[in-house]
Amino acid sequence: MLKFALFGAGRIGNMHAECMAKNTDVELVYVYDTNSEAAEALAKRFRATPVSNIDVPLFDSAIDAVLIASASNTHVQLLQAASKAGKSVLCEKPIGVNLAEVDECRTRIAGAGGVIHIGFNRRFDPNHGAVGAAVQKGEIGKPELLVITSRDPDLSSVEYHKASGGIFLDMTIHDLDLARFILREDPIELYATGSVMVDPMIGRIGDFDTAMVVMTMASGALVHVNNSRRSVYGYDQRIEAFGSSGMVQSQNVRPSTLERYNSNMTAGRDRLLYSFIERYTEAFGRQLAVFVSAVRGERSAVVSFEDGRRAQILANLALESAKTGRVVKVGYS
Ligand SMILES: NC(=O)c1ccc[n+]([C@@H]2O[C@H](COP(=O)([O-])OP(=O)(O)OC[C@H]3O[C@@H](n4cnc5c(N)ncnc54)[C@H](O)[C@@H]3O)[C@@H](O)[C@H]2O)c1
Repeated sequence: MLKFALFGAGRIGNMHAECMAKNTDVELVYVYDTNSEAAEALAKRFRATPVSNIDVPLFDSAIDAVLIASASNTHVQLLQAASKAGKSVLCEKPIGVNLAEVDECRTRIAGAGGVIHIGFNRRFDPNHGAVGAAVQKGEIGKPELLVITSRDPDLSSVEYHKASGGIFLDMTIHDLDLARFILREDPIELYATGSVMVDPMIGRIGDFDTAMVVMTMASGALVHVNNSRRSVYGYDQRIEAFGSSGMVQSQNVRPSTLERYNSNMTAGRDRLLYSFIERYTEAFGRQLAVFVSAVRGERSAVVSFEDGRRAQILANLALESAKTGRVVKVGYS
């Protein structure tokens, strides 16, 4: 059984702890959060030990891995410390909020022994994963268009948005990673635009709540990503891959398959699952299982530090494009 420490006991920290509790190969031992009440509550719920200092788990040789689920602007420092202590790390996206700190982290952890996996959980969703597999098997022929729709049900707290790095780094980054994962190639060019349509608070903190990105991939295939921070009908997550001999779609997930018919509607269906926690529970569980087998040496990490870095560079370029109104060339150096 692998022993874990969890850094970050907020929304997703609690969800990761639930995944650990369901995985019989994992034991959650320590919980650290700068908010000691949050750490204590989570630790109590999962029979773990709350700690007020990361040195306790990092100097405990029994700990195999650290899962980083704290605010985005704290990841780099925690990842670096955990990796240098010889621990394997599953780090939530993004790796950091600026590229210079990510590159510095890459240099500092070079040669460290543990596995590093960046938490692009959507790759592990059975439906989205099946789109990638179908494209790789040639089911749609030569891929020509990839359309990714990702709309959150609602805004998070102001504090969350301030620490998030902005919509491209916080939200679009998942879709930028999915595009690379599904098409197995990189973009050469990118155009993005953003708007404040949902809440002026987002504009006041210098962010967007509505965004679009168009990318040209190396093969010529085109990618379109659209994001909103407010979708009144639930968490809207769809992918469509279109090619020379067909199309494959990953549709939204609903609580039931019921359709209702009456004098006002036909084929009335449930609203969509509400949040990333409901929609991607299975994906988070599968991601954890893959990470565990990588730590055991049964496979390599599926989402590498470089994958995380590339998605981050694309997110930065999207912000640059949205700010300047220009198409930008993509490079990863
Ligand atoms: N993969 C996904 O789909 C997905 C979804 C949501 C959030 N996330 C990522 O998860 C991270 C956390 O998001 P959340 O929604 O749980 O936010 P949250 O605000 O609910 O929780 C963040 C927690 O981090 C704690 N924290 C802040 N600084 C810390 C530090 N230095 N050390 C330890 N803990 C610290 C806060 O006290 C808080 O409890 C973010 O990086 C976000 O990008 C990923």
